Amino acid sequence: MRTFIPIIPVFFIFLLFCSLTSAQTEIIKLPEVNLEGKLSLEETLKERKSRRSYLKSMMTIDEVSQLLWAAQGINRNDGRRTAPSAGALYPIELYVLIGNVEGITNGLYLYVPSNHSLILKNNKNLIPKLSDAMQQFVSSGSVVFIITGVYERTTKKYGERGIRYVHMDVGFAAQNIYLQAESLGLGTVFMGAFNDNLLTDILQLPQNHKPLGVMPVGRVR
Ligand SMILES: Cc1cc2nc3c(=O)[nH]c(=O)nc-3n(C[C@H](O)[C@H](O)[C@H](O)COP(=O)(O)O)c2cc1C
Repeated sequence: MRTFIPIIPVFFIFLLFCSLTSAQTEIIKLPEVNLEGKLSLEETLKERKSRRSYLKSMMTIDEVSQLLWAAQGINRNDGRRTAPSAGALYPIELYVLIGNVEGITNGLYLYVPSNHSLILKNNKNLIPKLSDAMQQFVSSGSVVFIITGVYERTTKKYGERGIRYVHMDVGFAAQNIYLQAESLGLGTVFMGAFNDNLLTDILQLPQNHKPLGVMPVGRVR
């Protein structure tokens, strides 16, 4: 006897499945970066400092694009990046929480250096929740960068010594964010004091993406 397959309900279930999976893989192609800033490198270094209070005014998608590129963007044809990395193994996965940016819907995104884009991971604004895991001023950032490290990418080659290399990679990316922020009239601070488990839980990070630094950014002038 032939099995009867109800075609119409199956078709609707298929459509529902497609819409759910596409919602999870929303991708934002970021604008091209600007290679001509307003401040010289020397002026930027002169001004750089940790800034913990930010204006409420919106940031722009161009500024977010610029900061992500400064942190981990590709700057050469061979695919290497703006920040150095031990063995060019790139253990950093860079997340950004968007809370007050013209041109990007609030949510948690993962940066994809290979095509300078963002993948939506969570469409809720989780920035207010961050203060459960760390100093409260973090929640006044218009965006918040979460620098995570995937240790095994580097320890696979360098063994235990790779752990320190991952931390060094984080430092380079963070300093690039500091400098790019300063030259755009934005402020930031590197925050290392947070509750690892709570932060991982709030952001639902994959188990091997270890949060190593948090950087709120907002307009300061
Ligand atoms: C590894 C590291 C961890 C830090 N963690 C925090 C932090 O959790 N909270 C904070 O307010 N500042 C933090 N800072 C910022 C320092 O307090 C700041 O860099 C220092 O006071 C010097 O000030 P400056 O950055 O303005 O030169 C951290 C800096 C580094 C390098």
